[in-house]
Amino acid sequence: MPATVAVGCQFGDEGKGKIIDFLAADADVVVRFQGGANAGHTVQVGDELYAFHLLPSGVLRNRTMNVIGNGVVIDPEQLLKEIDETRARGHPVKNLRISDRAHVVMPYHKVLDGLEEKLKGGLGAGTTLRGIGPAFEDKVGRFGIRMCDLIDPETRRAKLKTIVPIKQRVVDVFGGSERIDAEALSTEYEAYGKRLAPFVGDTSAWLDDAIKRRKRILFEGAQGTHLCIDHGLYPFGTSSDCVAGAAAVGAGVGPQHLTDILGVAKAFTSRVGAGPFPTELEGPIAEHLRERGGGEYGTTTRRPRRVGWFDLVMLRMAVRVNGLTRLALTKLDVLGGLERVRVCIGYRHDGGVLREFPASMRVLADCAPMYREFLGWPDLPEEEWIRIATRGRRALPETTRRYVAFVESQLKVPVRVLSVGRSRAATMGA
Ligand code: IMP
Ligand code: MG
Repeated sequence: MPATVAVGCQFGDEGKGKIIDFLAADADVVVRFQGGANAGHTVQVGDELYAFHLLPSGVLRNRTMNVIGNGVVIDPEQLLKEIDETRARGHPVKNLRISDRAHVVMPYHKVLDGLEEKLKGGLGAGTTLRGIGPAFEDKVGRFGIRMCDLIDPETRRAKLKTIVPIKQRVVDVFGGSERIDAEALSTEYEAYGKRLAPFVGDTSAWLDDAIKRRKRILFEGAQGTHLCIDHGLYPFGTSSDCVAGAAAVGAGVGPQHLTDILGVAKAFTSRVGAGPFPTELEGPIAEHLRERGGGEYGTTTRRPRRVGWFDLVMLRMAVRVNGLTRLALTKLDVLGGLERVRVCIGYRHDGGVLREFPASMRVLADCAPMYREFLGWPDLPEEEWIRIATRGRRALPETTRRYVAFVESQLKVPVRVLSVGRSRAATMGA
């Protein structure tokens, strides 16, 4: 029984939430394995929109189990808020398990996130201010508090007693005026621990058992390949590994189980936050993509996203570092209404042509995109796109089909899922 890993190929916001929801219909288990509440996965069911930051996207399906793996950093307040809000909308959320090895995001991490961004000046990534970077720093620095500590009053108290004064000194040195009240923190986190304890356990062992019982498992990536701490834009990405291999580490399963690797790519590029962006657009086409995209404002931060043309240099790298076996191409409908659409096929740099994505931000900032131009397709109403989705890929406008076929031939990975709108019905197998 192959386990599927779904990862973003660009800067996050590729429409993974929707594709994962589509795939979750066939999954017994959905697993988050990296990132934290910086993620924002939008799922639409009927007219209802859900934006999850920490809850795995299978949580709305009662017979699907959802796992938050050890590789995720968990903000307990945020997680409980999501659980409560989802319950208030009629979903019981009993189908959740949380790794006892996952690290906890503390309020001082959020304070430090803001302070670090300010100190970094031009090196700041424009973070979501969710405390993600400082929580991963503490994990690697071994200052972290894990879920097993959170639910154990004695360990939690002992660790906080040592760690809080250290964090206070760091806040002071970084120029912050915030006071960390160890006593209040302990009381607040005790309550979170009590509420979350029933969900917490050894999820690696549990997943191993599920694999042996031939359950279908879907690993849900957050962010995207080019935000990955190892393979993404550095220092403008996030603090966790976002590539497919991270699913093995961040969930505690053997890599041999990860045989179906689905990359999710949007038919154009967008990002929130800083860093060079070769295909970035300004003016009327950028406005079109942002406005027609409807969702082109960060799910977590509501910042307007920067937008640009589809970039095959970025995608070629995503194919390689993730080992993609298939692709999902999303938001094709958003390009509708443009007379011509472009795809970046390489970068011109220093008199030559780069076909691989550069490591150096100085080089990347100097890259000029080389484009292939295509005829656009009409701006169809939502119902028409849904009608097309029910009939399948061959029902797409001919110019759209040509665009998809070009991407497929360049990347040498089959496009197996296409999405042409927000709703569940606008997704088709292809
Ligand atoms: P952080 O993950 O909050 O530390 O932010 C680091 C960078 O990653 C910033 O540029 C964020 O805008 C970006 N980022 C983090 N999570 C997401 C996401 O889920 N979608 C899109 N961008 C993200
Ligand atoms: Mg998102």
